[in-house]
Amino acid sequence: MRTYTFPETFLWGAATSAYQIEGSTTADGRGESIWDRFCRTPGAIGDGSSGEPACDHYRRWRDDVALMRQLHLNSYRFSVAWPRVFPDGAGAVNGAGIEFYDKLVDELLAQGIRPLATLYHWDLPAKLQDEGGWANRDTAFRFRDYAAAVFRRLGDRVDLWITINEPWVAAMLGHFYGWHAPGIKDAAAAVQASHHLLLAHGLAVEAFDELGLRSSNGTAASQVRAGIGPALDIHAYAAVSAHPRDRAAVERARALEARWFIEALTGRGYPEEALAWYAERGVAPVVKPGDMERIARPFDFLAVNYYRRHVIAGDDAVPLFAYRQAPGGDRPRTELDWEVYPEGLYEVLDWVWRTYLQPAGDKFLLVTENGAAYPDVMTADGEEPRVRDAERLSYLRTHLYQLWRAVQDGVPVRGYYVWSLLDNFEWAHGYTKRFGIVHVDFETQRRLVKDSGRWYAAAARANALPPEAGA
Ligand code: FCB
Repeated sequence: MRTYTFPETFLWGAATSAYQIEGSTTADGRGESIWDRFCRTPGAIGDGSSGEPACDHYRRWRDDVALMRQLHLNSYRFSVAWPRVFPDGAGAVNGAGIEFYDKLVDELLAQGIRPLATLYHWDLPAKLQDEGGWANRDTAFRFRDYAAAVFRRLGDRVDLWITINEPWVAAMLGHFYGWHAPGIKDAAAAVQASHHLLLAHGLAVEAFDELGLRSSNGTAASQVRAGIGPALDIHAYAAVSAHPRDRAAVERARALEARWFIEALTGRGYPEEALAWYAERGVAPVVKPGDMERIARPFDFLAVNYYRRHVIAGDDAVPLFAYRQAPGGDRPRTELDWEVYPEGLYEVLDWVWRTYLQPAGDKFLLVTENGAAYPDVMTADGEEPRVRDAERLSYLRTHLYQLWRAVQDGVPVRGYYVWSLLDNFEWAHGYTKRFGIVHVDFETQRRLVKDSGRWYAAAARANALPPEAGA
């Protein structure tokens, strides 16, 4: 029977982010982040919770690395909390804060797990928000300094870096919808923030190069090359109907959500029609001379976060965008009401590779998030404790099969990171939505590998999917 084998050096990983798992939000001089603050806003978080204590990973990291090893992971994506390194966003490095990541990285390497570090996964130091946060151009330059400090400390051992995680989400959910920190609802601030997040990416790549990290990291051609890149959330898209209004809406969604970022990053500038669309609504980002060149500084890999397809309907009543997601199709949906659309992973990888990366030369791709929330139930008392999360297992299997297909068709995807290693603090949903392949009992902090985790570990170990994956 056929199995689906991956390239020899494929990275089998799991992903997390600092605020979602660490807890210990005031330990060792950590400064306040915009999420600490946002969580105190009445009504902001579904269950009234916060990132304290989350998975208590700040204290249990060693056990968590042992768990990764048990799962046969050969890579791990985590994020560095800016407010641990610079409690006020800038100034002097907080030694005790960065020390945490230093030890974590050493332990990962000792266990044969290659670290992939994200510099910004949404936890901006609150002090910088007091000065305007991402709507303030200066924040991008503070990010450059922060990135340089982390590179200096960890760059001798970490050789895969993500600059900014999901700039669309940080800009729009944080500054237009107000569902995420800092909870602002202002179109101009949101679009300006998206520009500054991209500028921050470019400035961090510049710092990376100035420190000589790119050239000194040449690994053998057979291995996954070292490097730096941005992480974009790219969805699959479909129009809810063939009506011209819906077709125009789906193209607009693609332009404002995906092309805005990838085209700027690959040197094409912002899409004309996106700029025109915003301008007609009185929104025009301030772009200074040289910004677009900085944003387009060459990167090594694109990190793609993929979860679902957006079925789009044109709707003039929706401010700024004039479209909304429509309930569409007969596909199953996850607990977050996200459509399960595995082919979309193939579509997205194929589109972004052929349209933007292949023409831009020697780049590769990593899928740095993919996974699903389901209401997991533990087996009854008296039985062997187990989480039989058949739906999540099937989600992972079908998506990994599409990834395998993309690789067969020549798309250079070098690794996959399931979201998430652990059930964790799922932003505005608090602890009510579980994405982990490892169950966390938030009362006792007990970890239990779910059935999906067992399945994933077997695939990682075999570097292949079992025969039924292609069924
Ligand atoms: C992504 C985020 C990640 C997690 C997943 C479910 O948008 O990057 O932190 O919340 O969604």
